[in-house]
Amino acid sequence: MIYAKSLSLILFNLFLVYTFNSEKKEEPPVTYSKNIRPIISQYCLNCHAGKRPKSKLDLSTYENLKKAIENKNLLLRINNKKRPMPKGGLMPLEKRKLIEKWVNQEFKK
Ligand code: HEC
Repeated sequence: MIYAKSLSLILFNLFLVYTFNSEKKEEPPVTYSKNIRPIISQYCLNCHAGKRPKSKLDLSTYENLKKAIENKNLLLRINNKKRPMPKGGLMPLEKRKLIEKWVNQEFKK
């Protein structure tokens, strides 16, 4: 009886370790709605949205943002110290990395 009890305890612990580890390894994918839109709206939309967006570039929708990344060197600009976007200075590295990750994961909605 005692043996069976400790065996089940060991199995239970293995189960805990396993689920904990696999949760840690699998990061959720970066998505537009959860991760990217909040960054863009915080750092870009006061200039790149509304009736007359700067440089005629409206970044307020998923499609527009994707197009700007594909056609307007957006990733280069957000990492360019000399001509940064936003104009005031580069965003924190972790935000820029997140946007790059989103692009590499193929623009998940
Ligand atoms: C304070 C206003 C302001 C903010 C905030 C701002 N921009 Fe801009 N953006 C401009 C202006 C003005 C231009 C045109 C002049 C230039 O290219 O430097 C521009 C140009 C750009 C261009 C080049 C467009 C083209 O037609 O080649 C991109 C890409 C861009 N911005 C992306 C962004 C992104 C992404 C953010 C947020 C991370 C951002 N901008 C934040 C004012 C802003």
